[in-house]
Amino acid sequence: MTQEKEDKRLDLQAAYSVRTPAENEALYAAWAKTYDESFAAASDYIFPQQVARVFHEQGGHGPVLDAGAGTGLVAEAIAARKTCLMDAFDISEPMLSIAKAKGVYRRLVQGDLTQKLPFDDGSYASVVSAGTFTHGHVGPEAMDELLRVSASGALLVLTIKAELYEARGFAATFSDLGMQIYDFQLQEVPIYGAGAQSSDTLDAGLIACFRKT
Ligand SMILES: C[S@@+](CC[C@H](N)C(=O)[O-])C[C@H]1O[C@@H](n2cnc3c(N)ncnc32)[C@H](O)[C@@H]1O
Repeated sequence: MTQEKEDKRLDLQAAYSVRTPAENEALYAAWAKTYDESFAAASDYIFPQQVARVFHEQGGHGPVLDAGAGTGLVAEAIAARKTCLMDAFDISEPMLSIAKAKGVYRRLVQGDLTQKLPFDDGSYASVVSAGTFTHGHVGPEAMDELLRVSASGALLVLTIKAELYEARGFAATFSDLGMQIYDFQLQEVPIYGAGAQSSDTLDAGLIACFRKT
């Protein structure tokens, strides 16, 4: 397959069609090399910058865990304003290998957000995530582990695809967390900027921002 044909096959529809962690691994293994150009630049993907904006507004600091770090766009956006100690976690080794080359992470760890995370309790002062709580990727079941590895008072800034917020149980999960979290805020933000070209790119996203008790 030519690179052009391959890039067309690897689009938002393909990303939203995956169902399992294994399918995610296969999709992103094929997409890693061209993700930044064929997807992020071409669709003016600004979710990572939105996460970085909220992180800095809320006084976020390291060590930071980037959950579903991919090629490192969130760390680049955070570092554009202030350097922070950041670790990357993602199921896709090829995506992490692109991120590694950018030199924006202390450690890059391959693994599955739907399983127990390979980090000690309270390891992180912040957790950030962009584009990972979306169709066929990761659901609210990851929240318990993200909170376990967060320190008391840690800041969490996570994007969630808007139409999945109620439908996939994110709203219920945050409500059930009760006193385990505080200062919960939800804001709707554009996922794509003015340079977006396809109708998919009109989609809105949510940013959930809260702290661990
Ligand atoms: C749309 S990309 C977002 C990457 C990056 N955060 C960004 O905004 O560009 C989604 C990422 O989630 C990762 N992912 C999907 N399922 C996962 C899982 N179960 N555990 C860990 N990472 C996962 C994919 O490998 C991919 O890098």
